[in-house]
Amino acid sequence: MAIKRIGILTGGGDCPGLNPVIRAVVKTAIGKYGMSVVGFKNGYKGLYNNETIELTLENTSGILHRGGTILFSSNKDNLFDYLVPDENGNMVKKNVSHVGVENIKKNNIDAMIIIGGDGTLTSGRDFSRLGVPVIGVPKTIDNDLSSTDTTFGFDTAVGVAAECMDRIHTTAESHHRIITVEIMGRYAGFLGLSSGIAGGADAILIPEIPYDINKVADHIRKRIAEGKEFSVIAVAEGAKSITGEVSVMKVIEGSPDPIRLGGIAAKVAEDLENMVGLEARATVLGHIQRGGTPSAADRILSTRYGCAAIELAVEGKFGNMVCLKDNQMSYASLEDVIGANKAVDPEGELVKAAKSIGICFGD
Ligand code: F6P
Repeated sequence: MAIKRIGILTGGGDCPGLNPVIRAVVKTAIGKYGMSVVGFKNGYKGLYNNETIELTLENTSGILHRGGTILFSSNKDNLFDYLVPDENGNMVKKNVSHVGVENIKKNNIDAMIIIGGDGTLTSGRDFSRLGVPVIGVPKTIDNDLSSTDTTFGFDTAVGVAAECMDRIHTTAESHHRIITVEIMGRYAGFLGLSSGIAGGADAILIPEIPYDINKVADHIRKRIAEGKEFSVIAVAEGAKSITGEVSVMKVIEGSPDPIRLGGIAAKVAEDLENMVGLEARATVLGHIQRGGTPSAADRILSTRYGCAAIELAVEGKFGNMVCLKDNQMSYASLEDVIGANKAVDPEGELVKAAKSIGICFGD
């Protein structure tokens, strides 16, 4: 079947590179294939409410360098388990995916391009199982999606975190302080590890390598003995001690992904201040890592993903996610991607390189 009309939505937490994907999809679909493109606003919520915008070469012009998503996003909405009022007006969770399917039909869409992380793509897979022609595009600063070497947004987030750590360094050194820097990434340490290496961290704590606080304290004492009376520590938000659980900041009721991690950097700073005797501070980078203009590498990767998504649709290869394999565009079944998130290999080359240059992981 010839593909004439593309639907597109962005779901989950935003990340730099979403707009370049949208732009590449629109330019390829309209410019190369003469298709039309309709965007659903606000992720799956917009699919449910049929909130659409016709995407054109004009209204997607000038968005390559813009952070966020011109289609807006939502990370609370799963149409397979969606809060709707029952006959008494009480809010109850129901499977309303059929409304999404109807809206896709109503808009005469031949292929849906769904840009998101594991939550958004899980629904993408579930729509695909209902017979919707879906192509997924892997987005997340966490870089934890399987079947792809990298997700877009990760490179920008690493760059932002590294720049912040450069700034932390000068103030830590001036005041003879320990400063812990809390880095996003949920249950994966990719962002913490890469940002820590790029930002010159003295210690890196990630979920995949449970840390012993005594070992981190010893490392800082050794630095002090060598005349370095300050330390900068990259702490992934999902880091855990050899005895402890992860540090949860809040639980978002009704969300398909309710746990928000946070608070571990403050805890590590307090412990180290008490143990080592240097003053300590904690900085939480938070959404700074997700906002703002995408790096050049992410603009290129996002553009490649957007073009590849349309090519996959033209070939009729639905139920797949575009991915990067050995620097080539490829694709993987959404059935294989979902439920198989990646984690840092504690014995991997990057961890080994970090250890070679004396970075402590507390293990
Ligand atoms: O998955 C992306 C991410 O930025 C995580 O690194 C972080 O834990 C989470 O989203 C934060 O979510 P929210 O924007 O809902 O606070």
